[in-house]
Amino acid sequence: MNSCVVGLQWGDEGKGKVVDILAEHSDIVVRYSGGANAGHTVVVGDNRFALHLLPSGSVRPNIICVITNAVVVDPDTLIKEIDKLAQKNITLNDRLFISENAHLVLDYHKKEDQLREESLGKNKLGTTVRGIGPCYADKVGRSHAVRMADLRDLEKLKAKLQTIVDYKNKIFAALYNTEPISAAPLFEKCKSYADKLLPFITDTTEFLHKSIADGKSILFEGAQGTLLDLDHGTFPFVTSSNSSGLGMPAGSGVPAKMVDKFIGVAKAYTTRVGAGPFPTEQDNEIGQYIRDKGHEYGTTTGRPRRCGWFDAVAVSYAVTISAVDSIALMHLDTLAGLKEIKICRAYKINGKQTSFFPANAARLSQASPIYETVPGWDEDITEVNDFHELPLNAQNFIVLIEEMTGKPVTIIGVGPKRNQTIFR
Ligand code: GDP
Ligand code: IMO
Ligand code: MG
Repeated sequence: MNSCVVGLQWGDEGKGKVVDILAEHSDIVVRYSGGANAGHTVVVGDNRFALHLLPSGSVRPNIICVITNAVVVDPDTLIKEIDKLAQKNITLNDRLFISENAHLVLDYHKKEDQLREESLGKNKLGTTVRGIGPCYADKVGRSHAVRMADLRDLEKLKAKLQTIVDYKNKIFAALYNTEPISAAPLFEKCKSYADKLLPFITDTTEFLHKSIADGKSILFEGAQGTLLDLDHGTFPFVTSSNSSGLGMPAGSGVPAKMVDKFIGVAKAYTTRVGAGPFPTEQDNEIGQYIRDKGHEYGTTTGRPRRCGWFDAVAVSYAVTISAVDSIALMHLDTLAGLKEIKICRAYKINGKQTSFFPANAARLSQASPIYETVPGWDEDITEVNDFHELPLNAQNFIVLIEEMTGKPVTIIGVGPKRNQTIFR
């Protein structure tokens, strides 16, 4: 049985926790998109892991971890992550596979990301400054890209890096008037990447298809969320990859029809980091209440997350685009204590009512939400592990979300820990 976990909002829905839980019944966990812009939290007992590149299955010692072709890998971050797990006696030796086709995020990508954001001033996208956009741009451009396979031939890579650095320096000087970068230290870093990463580099497409033929159970781990998808999200306020379920086949080389189940993860409210339209945003005491109670600060950048009500228009769109079979609804506990809770069931755009999400920043920024208001609950639900033991108002809230999205809520999060989860 193969499954895929995908975010249904603007990221940070709790995918790390859901993947960690589902990994218990999987053989292999696969990261197939994005890069170190992701921050997936897994809590195991007193340990809290913030994973940026390693699949969230990595904290379980027997799980095979795969990083596929479409992931842009910052080797510094990846090596740090591997070392950090090793310090906790969790070793990745013999169970980490990195695609030879995955692209490397190098220092000049991060520099370019930062310079571009700074130059945009108040029009900046609010990226994570992890070099994601510039690396994917180089991938699409082809001629100036570095892939994992390039680490196998260091002499050739040395020459390639010189060409790239000469090219980048012209751009940096012309556009940003900055000091030139030099190829030599970059090459030294690449040599150490080769030392550490070559044992893990392989043809992951072949590996995955062989594993499927052997009857292994594979769990695909989406990064970001459907609404941040480059093609189907709120462009230009998106990431630079196909972060919806649609990115999984091209991102891994495994066709979607070989996946039995897509599980969409959403929060019981909405958060967004970075710029872009957010119709149900509560830039007020309600948003602050959610931020404080849900600890809504970025796992990767520490930025405060923008908070707002659950948007059933947006989630229904994401359910459709990502072909989701069921929903994991996280952070139900965070809503406790609110007198009433709102769910957006439609938008009014230019006087017209619609319930289909416009994946276009200009149109979405004109949307005003039409809400359904339901009574809240005061009870602490962080110890509840049976749906029927939830306060009636919480149960009704879940049922309403199921009605509005047309999909069953089969997993409910009532806290960050593994055992703070309700299965239905
Ligand atoms: P991801 O990027 O989708 O993996 O999500 P993040 O890890 O960036 O952010 C989710 C945050 O919520 C993390 O701090 C999790 O530990 C935490 N979390 C996940 N599920 C729940 C839940 O049901 N309730 C609460 N209170 N926290 C949760
Ligand atoms: P996980 O996997 C939340 C957002 C950034 C910014 C936009 C573009 O943890 O859910 P980028 O650095 O990708 O060019 O930034 O996308 N973003 C995320 N927001 N969670 C993420 O990942 C994100 N990855 C990127 O905040 O708005
Ligand atoms: Mg995150």
